[in-house]
Amino acid sequence: MLRCVEPEWLDELPPEDPRAIRSRGDLQRVNRWMGQAGIMRRALLSSRGLTAPRVVLELGAGDGTFMLTVARSLALGWKDVKVILLDCKDIVSNETLHGFKALGWDVETIKADAFEFLGQAKQRSVDAITANLFLHHFRHERLTQLLLQAARVADLFVACEPRRSTLALVGSRLLWAIGCNSVSRHDAVVSVRAGFADEDLSELWPDQDDWRLTERAAGLFTHCFVAQRSGRSMGPQNEI
Ligand SMILES: C[S@@+](CC[C@H](N)C(=O)[O-])C[C@H]1O[C@@H](n2cnc3c(N)ncnc32)[C@H](O)[C@@H]1O
Repeated sequence: MLRCVEPEWLDELPPEDPRAIRSRGDLQRVNRWMGQAGIMRRALLSSRGLTAPRVVLELGAGDGTFMLTVARSLALGWKDVKVILLDCKDIVSNETLHGFKALGWDVETIKADAFEFLGQAKQRSVDAITANLFLHHFRHERLTQLLLQAARVADLFVACEPRRSTLALVGSRLLWAIGCNSVSRHDAVVSVRAGFADEDLSELWPDQDDWRLTERAAGLFTHCFVAQRSGRSMGPQNEI
C-alpha cells in the first residue's frame, strides 16, 4: 500500500463543534483498542529504564488524555517529570491537568505549531519527545523537516503511529462497531493510508550514526518508531 496523506476532518472542525468533541472521545477509545499507551510505555521504559526523563515534550498532544494514561503507568518509577503538552489547539481540560499534578508530575500546555515550536527550541533542551497518532499527518518533506528538528531538540524520540497494513485498514473500517462517529470513521481510514510500514521513518531520520533506531509493528494496528541518541551523555540543558 503506497503512503497517501489526505486531510482529516477533526483537524478542520472547530474544537468546540459537537462532532469534534464526540470524535475526541472516540479517539480515547481508539487509543485504548490499539493499546497505544502500553506500547508507548514499553518503548519509553526500554529506552530509559528507571532513569526518569526530566522533560518530556508530547507533540500533537490533543486533549492530553493519552499522555496522562502513559504518565499514570510510569509514575510509580518515574518521579519529578515535567510534561509539555503541545498542540495547535487548546483542548486540555483542567481535570487532565490535575491528573498530572496528582501524580507529582509538572505539566505545561503550549498552543503552537509543532514546526514553529521545534524550530525555536534550544538544542537538546528536552530529554524525550513523544508523538501519538501525529506524524502521519505530514507528507514526506514536512515529516523530514520535523524529524530533523526533533533530532536537534531531544535525546530520545518515540512515535506510535497507525500501521499502514491491510489488517489496520480493515480495523479502521469497523469503528462503527464501537460507536465511533462519522468524523472518527473517516479519519481512521485516512490515518491508516497515511500511516507507516517497514523502515519508513528510519529512512527519514537525519543522523544514522549517532542514533540507535528501532522501527517495528506493535500490537495489531500500530507502528512504533524509537530513535535514541547513542554515545553521548544524556544531560541536556532543559531550557526551551
Ligand atoms: C489524531 S490527533 C492525536 C491526539 C493525541 N496525540 C491522542 O493520541 O489523543 C492529532 C493531533 O495533532 C494536532 N496537530 C496537527 N497538526 C499539528 C501541528 N502542525 N502542530 C501541533 N499540533 C498539530 C491536532 O490538533 C490533533 O490534536
